[in-house]
Amino acid sequence: MPIHPSTTFERAPDGEYPLGFSYAREDNPTRRALEECLAALEGGKQALAFPSGMAAVTAVIQALEPGDHIIAPDDVYYGLRKLLAEVFGKWRLETSYVDMTDLDAIRAAVRPQTRLIWTETPSNPLLKITDLDGAAAIARRANAMTVCDATFATPVQQRPLDLGIDVVLHSTTKYMGGHSDVVGGVLAARFDSYLFERARKSQQTGGAVPSPFDCWLILRGLETLPCRVRAQAQSAGRIAEFLSRHPGVETVHYPGLAAHPGHALAARQMSGFGGMLSFQIRGTRERALAVAARVRIFTRATSLGGSHSLIEHRASIEGPQTRVPQNLLRLSIGLENVEDLIADLDEALEPGGRDTSASR
Ligand SMILES: Cc1ncc(COP(=O)(O)O)c(C=O)c1O
Repeated sequence: MPIHPSTTFERAPDGEYPLGFSYAREDNPTRRALEECLAALEGGKQALAFPSGMAAVTAVIQALEPGDHIIAPDDVYYGLRKLLAEVFGKWRLETSYVDMTDLDAIRAAVRPQTRLIWTETPSNPLLKITDLDGAAAIARRANAMTVCDATFATPVQQRPLDLGIDVVLHSTTKYMGGHSDVVGGVLAARFDSYLFERARKSQQTGGAVPSPFDCWLILRGLETLPCRVRAQAQSAGRIAEFLSRHPGVETVHYPGLAAHPGHALAARQMSGFGGMLSFQIRGTRERALAVAARVRIFTRATSLGGSHSLIEHRASIEGPQTRVPQNLLRLSIGLENVEDLIADLDEALEPGGRDTSASR
């Protein structure tokens, strides 16, 4: 697909637009190619590409009316909480943050004004798993719409629209772009709905559109998405196993581990467990920061889904309001040799090697 930088398209003598495009804020050939590809990957009918994941989130929230009620995960990506509090504070939206792993808790939070049930699975950064089929059924009975932020899983390993979710959202900055060099977002849907149409209107009129070059970069990333995600998930599984046996580690959050509370559900609704995991160090924030400071192959950086492995002390990124444990480190597993990644973590956890004198 070429990059079409044109902002305007010629009209025929009769005033029609023979190419099907008039002005690039409304539509553009490279963006349309990306949207068609993203819709197909999700098993959807339509998709909207945005200049960031948060622009996609914003378009959804803008579709709501003052007084509407949202149910969102208590461990949702912190950007949503921040957006609702700091940007939409004036819109008089009500939000209940609930434990989305508990369908009864979602049911109990429903009010007559509930218009949106927001899910994120696996969640960032605790990798909690929400029953999408169950959440969608609750929403249908409540006459509310459902959104699933499926950034961590990608359509390679989870297809929320197949499970009854109305709108799937991704930060395409992550796995879809895949190389940490483009920021983007997407919404995809199988059916027409007021939520999707309002999000489209807010984009076309409000102007939150991605550049043709960014659309092209994401399209190029998508060509290798399945191979990357499967390789990253395989390595993540190996690393999660290694960490779960390490004496310096208190807990590992990875849905592929049999001990993870969402393992059985994840095995049912996903076809793999993804390339993201987090773990809690046995010890304090300082010890977690010291481990992150010692890695040599992992890069200390935020974001995820690229070909290089990243390590992040999540609480320091989220700031003083964070609910993330201070001893937690989040890993985005890249495409490096998994034995090298394990050795890097081993050395960072126990500099100079583990003391095995007792067993000698
Ligand atoms: C799960 C999740 N959703 C949404 C976003 C926001 O995406 P973006 O940074 O592209 O705006 C992120 C970013 O980290 C994320 O991890």
